Amino acid sequence: MAKKKLGNFYTDEIYCGNSLELMKEIPNETIDLIITDPPFAINFKAKKNNYNRKQDNVLEGYNEIPQEKYYEFTFNWITECYRIIKESGSMYVVSGWTNLKDILNALDEIGFLTINHLIWKYQFGVFTKRKYVTSHYHILFVVKNKKKYKFNKIEHYPEDVWIIKRKYWTGKIKTPTKLPVELVKKIILFSSDKEDIIFDPFLGSGTVAVTAKTLGRRYLGFELVKEYCEFAKERVSNVQMSLINWVNDKS
Ligand SMILES: C[S@@+](CC[C@H](N)C(=O)[O-])C[C@H]1O[C@@H](n2cnc3c(N)ncnc32)[C@H](O)[C@@H]1O
Repeated sequence: MAKKKLGNFYTDEIYCGNSLELMKEIPNETIDLIITDPPFAINFKAKKNNYNRKQDNVLEGYNEIPQEKYYEFTFNWITECYRIIKESGSMYVVSGWTNLKDILNALDEIGFLTINHLIWKYQFGVFTKRKYVTSHYHILFVVKNKKKYKFNKIEHYPEDVWIIKRKYWTGKIKTPTKLPVELVKKIILFSSDKEDIIFDPFLGSGTVAVTAKTLGRRYLGFELVKEYCEFAKERVSNVQMSLINWVNDKS
């Protein structure tokens, strides 16, 4: 599959830099699907020792947004997403509940139309004393045009609660957060076709790019933190052609 030129960028590439700046250079209505897990503004302690991560193996540099700037930040990146998505396109935004209202308000104000509010239920063994253990994320499935968006009904009764385990890194070097491939794969199969362009403005360790490549889609990813960006590039380059051919022969 040949790379496509998108303004100053090429598909099937990962670029290091600030998404808010880089996105401005993507031409209007060129992206089929956006899947993203934006920074959360919850004072996330990326280097804290938790679950199976040993602090020294977590890459440096996680970039967090201060709470008071979160709405403005959210509004700005979602505005760019609206501009670059095709009429037939869609976007999935993963969010915890803490800043969900900012994301919902920005999506509405910018003009995105909500198709589903999905719940991703995961396992999480954190002890709490006086509250319930949070074990879900919200995934907002939104589109530009309710008559034109793609939806490949790959399951007969696709429900809006997805029970998918979080995956933790097994290798030595880790980035602080990552989406499960199983979750990203489900979104890609429902909401895109082969060779479509899938974009993640907050790529982190590169899960969206890796999964898109494996499923025969084009990808584009931006990531601010240089170490994560290099890590994502390496992860994508390790996706084997034999695996891609195998997966695509089966689908
Ligand atoms: C929640 S993580 C994404 C994790 C990713 N889904 C994965 O599977 O690894 C959010 C990412 O956004 C990046 N980020 C924060 N602000 C950014 C910006 N302005 N431009 C590009 N990336 C940014 C952070 O460095 C972090 O890696």
